[in-house]
Amino acid sequence: MSPATERFVGVARVGEIADGSVKVVRIEDQAIAVFRRGGEYFALDDVCTHDGGPLAEGIVEGDEIECPRHGARFNIRTGQALCLPATGAVTTYAVRVEGDEIQVRWS
Ligand code: FES
Repeated sequence: MSPATERFVGVARVGEIADGSVKVVRIEDQAIAVFRRGGEYFALDDVCTHDGGPLAEGIVEGDEIECPRHGARFNIRTGQALCLPATGAVTTYAVRVEGDEIQVRWS
């Protein structure tokens, strides 16, 4: 995608998401979990690829999120499924900070 067609959507203010926590936002009816790890932010679909579990309600350990429904784990940086019962990766989105706004790339 060329920079000219990239679109970023503001989802939160800096400081609104505490280190180690997550905020669920909606962009065009898609629930997206925005995680903060230290000074970095990561955004991925808040929908487990196994059976639709709400990932933001799971336990975060390091860079991994565990689905609260059946325990599949995903890498929050890459969306990669790390163990069964999930096998498919969760979609991830680029995140940037502009001024005091956290933005998610959306196309
Ligand atoms: S819905 Fe997430 S592991 Fe089953």
